[in-house]
Amino acid sequence: MCGIVGYIGNNQARDILLKGLQKLEYRGYDSAGIALASDDGVELHKEKGRIASLEETVGNEGRGTTGIGHTRWATHGAPSRDNAHPHQSLSGRFTLVHNGVIENYQQLKRKYLSDVEMASETDTEIIVQLIESFTGEGETVDEAFRQALALLHGSYAIALIDNEDNETIYVGKNKSPLLVGVGEESSVVASDAMAMLHVTKEFMEIMDQEIVIVKKDSIQVKKLDGTAVERSTFTTDIDESDTEKGTYSHFMLKEIDEQPFVIRNIIQKYQDEDGDIKLDQDIRAALNDADRLYVIAAGTSYHAGLAGKELMEKVAEKPTEVHIASEFLYNEPLLSENPLFIFISQSGETADCRGVLVNVKEKGCQSLTITNVPGSTLTRESDFTLHTYAGPEIAVASTKAYTAQMAVFSILAMDGARAQGIHSDFNAISELGLIANAMETLCDQKERMEQVARDYMSGTRNCFFIGRAMDYHVVQEGALKLKEISYIQAEGFAGGELKHGTIALIEDGTPVVGVTTQQHVNANIRGNIQEVIARGANACIISTEATKEEGDTIVLPNINELLSPLVSVVPLQLISYYAALHRDCDVDKPRNLAKSVTVE
Ligand code: F6R
Repeated sequence: MCGIVGYIGNNQARDILLKGLQKLEYRGYDSAGIALASDDGVELHKEKGRIASLEETVGNEGRGTTGIGHTRWATHGAPSRDNAHPHQSLSGRFTLVHNGVIENYQQLKRKYLSDVEMASETDTEIIVQLIESFTGEGETVDEAFRQALALLHGSYAIALIDNEDNETIYVGKNKSPLLVGVGEESSVVASDAMAMLHVTKEFMEIMDQEIVIVKKDSIQVKKLDGTAVERSTFTTDIDESDTEKGTYSHFMLKEIDEQPFVIRNIIQKYQDEDGDIKLDQDIRAALNDADRLYVIAAGTSYHAGLAGKELMEKVAEKPTEVHIASEFLYNEPLLSENPLFIFISQSGETADCRGVLVNVKEKGCQSLTITNVPGSTLTRESDFTLHTYAGPEIAVASTKAYTAQMAVFSILAMDGARAQGIHSDFNAISELGLIANAMETLCDQKERMEQVARDYMSGTRNCFFIGRAMDYHVVQEGALKLKEISYIQAEGFAGGELKHGTIALIEDGTPVVGVTTQQHVNANIRGNIQEVIARGANACIISTEATKEEGDTIVLPNINELLSPLVSVVPLQLISYYAALHRDCDVDKPRNLAKSVTVE
């Protein structure tokens, strides 16, 4: 979703900000802009579309050693130049960028700014106009900034510059992610550390309802009431090269290929010198004490949760429910007496998940977050965190984060079983080693996967994915991958459910991908595949050495059935990738999508 950057220092801000915005592109956006402050005043450049268009607009202009920048993912008001950030106050004195949603912007407009004609349709503009209005009443900029922020309901990460003082950036945060960084004779502001690694690796977390007065040689954190706050910095371990494509044509392909490495990394991180699982004692205790687990997630992470439930129930014998975060938020089921909430989120920023976390914390429930981003909002606000160690995931379509989440779940499940004295032959560590090898074999078959994409997906309008049990979970993810990057309408169904309606959609040549990796349902799903073939479907069958039959399209190495989605998803990811490529789609940045969904 929207991303913000800011720079103040001795160097020209223009290229630093543009590079920062490029690093935020992965979050999804439809317009972008920068504002640069120098002794000559503030220059504003904004454009609908890609950062490349913005760069063209800026051209050789753009001077100033202080600046702010923004990528916008439209919420209030269509994608357009007028609605793009930065936004300016009526007189042009203040310039502001914002990530988030201001829920009460119409009430604020009516109450404080009824006579102000807005230049955009955004909720954001209200903030900059309020600040100007309060300074007009005699407040200092610091006071006006805090006063305006105190009136806002909703989420925001804000950076503001003042035409009359080009040595300060005012920053504020509530619910939306934001970091301030400390460089050499410079300071930066960014929605995430990746955006400013070219300036510094030293960052400071900003908490909700705090403001920061950022100068090139000082950073002052305050609460909204003006009280000073002490905050130390941390050094991020993200390497700038982790955020580059290298020799790959797309981040998605790079990230698919990284999966065996990620799984091996997880094995290392969660193992002690004796080869035993190394898990925080408090997490173990929380899992032990819980009478029911509630897994909360969205999108691909929700699909990982579905597989995680099977692991928790079958290995650790813990009753587990999986919920879509946005549904749980407004339709909460009856809770057990001693629940443990498990949030799964690649970004750790998904607003729907955070909404649930806030609610269940109020009820006194314990919470664990499984995430790829340490220091993210969900990590900070939940009781415990398990890190997925997948490295930055830049492509909007999630791949390595999904398999990493399931791998961490398998470790949690094994540890949970041991802690409760449950005898189980399931050894996550050795199974994951085999999984990494199997993934590698599949990543080496790209030509075959490209051919499958040609054979089954060329020219099709829709595609169905079917599976049972574990395979039902993975086909839902396969369908999501295909639809989000290739725009082919794709749905994942439980094989046995077809006859209850969906089979009506099968026509001559309709592609149906059937996944069968488990012996106990192999015959059943093959029966379902025959039913669609009988109605003209073009069936692509993915099986394993143990379940294969002659004529199957892709045969996977044998794997533990409980972990089969970690491997069966790899061909599904690759087929989606090539299907999108064949259609000339923007694989890494599919239309309308954002990587980090920070609004509800
Ligand atoms: C799909 C995808 C999304 C995310 C979802 C949740 O490829 O990436 O469906 O999984 O938006 O995001 P996180 O995991 O960051 O909470």
